[in-house]
Amino acid sequence: MIEAAAPLHATLLATLHAMAFAPHDRWDAQAMHTLLEQPGVFGLIDDAGGMVLARVVADEAEILTLAVAPPARRQGVGRGLLAAAAGIAAAHGAQTLFLEVADNNAAARALYEREGFRQAGRRRRYYPDGADALVMRCALTPCATAGG
Ligand SMILES: CC(C)(COP(=O)(O)OP(=O)(O)OC[C@H]1O[C@@H](n2cnc3c(N)ncnc32)[C@H](O)[C@@H]1OP(=O)(O)O)[C@@H](O)C(=O)NCCC(=O)NCCS
Repeated sequence: MIEAAAPLHATLLATLHAMAFAPHDRWDAQAMHTLLEQPGVFGLIDDAGGMVLARVVADEAEILTLAVAPPARRQGVGRGLLAAAAGIAAAHGAQTLFLEVADNNAAARALYEREGFRQAGRRRRYYPDGADALVMRCALTPCATAGG
């Protein structure tokens, strides 16, 4: 079940994030708490083992992070969280949803492409390991809100 995350869920969000990301990419509970207090930022938790943070600014929304714990992967949790975040963003007036993903993150790229995201830019050597970031974008009407 997917539920809204409040600042009091910061520790749970950080725990889920730590299960999904390498140590240098993890966001701690303080970071989660700080983000959730910012205007336009919202979070969702899937009790199967996943979380997403997103931000709506005017008619654009951004996926800030998406994490699914390894035992919960390939069961539609990531897709469900993405679709739920897209639905909330659209309800708040966003017309497009964008995100950054590492060029070498095959799983995430496959998920986003399947859900209708297309490459809109590239930031060279954006990540500490030297990987490029791809900027991916999706119009909200036909993309993840449709549920793939
Ligand atoms: C990327 C991530 C969020 C995907 O979560 P998930 O719950 O496993 O994804 P889903 O089960 O919803 O997958 C939906 C579709 O995406 C694609 N996909 C997901 N993982 C994939 C993989 N490892 N290889 C190939 N395709 C994949 C498939 O098309 C999949 O559908 P299918 O299982 O019917 O073939 C998860 O692997 C993760 O947390 N990774 C580490 C953190 C991360 O990279 N976050 C994104 C940063 S931008």
